[in-house]
Parts: sequence; C-alpha cells; structure tokens
Amino acid sequence: MLLMVINGPNLNKLGSRDPEQYGTKTYMDLISMIEEKSIDEVVINCFQSNSEGKLIDYIQQAGEEYNGIVINPGAYSHYSYAIMDALADVEIPVVEVHISDVHSREEFRRKLVTARSSDKLIAGKGFDGYIEAIDYLIGVNK
Ligand code: DQA
Repeated sequence: MLLMVINGPNLNKLGSRDPEQYGTKTYMDLISMIEEKSIDEVVINCFQSNSEGKLIDYIQQAGEEYNGIVINPGAYSHYSYAIMDALADVEIPVVEVHISDVHSREEFRRKLVTARSSDKLIAGKGFDGYIEAIDYLIGVNK
C-alpha cells in the first residue's frame, strides 16, 4: 500500500511558526513521526510545497500511483477551488488534516473548501491527526 502525505504552504515552518497554534515540533519532527508508520506493507511518502500548482501536481500523481492521500492544504483549505477540484478528481480516499482546531479560530478558517472533496476531516489533534488519518487509510484499503 502506497500513501502520500501532502503539506501545503508554511507548514515547512512548523516549530517556529505560531507555536501556540501549531506547537514547537518542527516539520522534520512531523516527517520522522510519519515515517515511523512506514512498514513493509505500508509505504508513506511525504511532500511539502508552498505553491498551489505543485500541490495539484502531487494530488494528480497520487491519483495515478497511490492508494490514499493525507493532505493539510494550509491556508489554501479555505479558498482553493483548484485544489478542491483536483481532490474530487482522484478515485482514492482522501483525509484532510488540520493541526489546529480551525473551527474555533478566526471566522475565515471555518470555511473549508478543499475538505468538500475529502472522505474525512481531522482537525485540532496536533501531529496525532496525521497518524489517525494514516490509520484510517490503512483501514479502508484493507
Ligand atoms: C492549518 C490551519 C490553516 O488555517 C492555516 O492557514 C495553516 C495550518 C492547520 O494545520 O491547522 O497553514 O491548516
């Protein structure tokens, strides 16, 4: 089973960026934690980009070659119809993850556009949300 984890803009700055919302662990800490979930039967590849087009390229590639997507589109979650469309076009399961509880933050973060194309939404569980998303994808692919 091949799973793709995609992180969007500014998530490469985890650790120093707004620690009250996102904690003090870095992007590399997140990737190490996710890679620990990689075993023989489950291979997880992680990508990050600050560009909308690059994120869409990853989604399209995953649609061709992978069995599931975990995506945190960052701020694009709130307004990117292009990412929403790309996710709607893949036939594999998609889980959208937010580290912070977007529902209890500023008004604009409550509008979730890309999540309309996701099978599941996990928000406010910190880095553990990614692990929950991976476990969900392993479960539905069994
Ligand atoms: C985020 C929430 C978004 O509103 C924000 O723009 C991010 C991170 C989260 O993981 O909580 O970049 O997606």
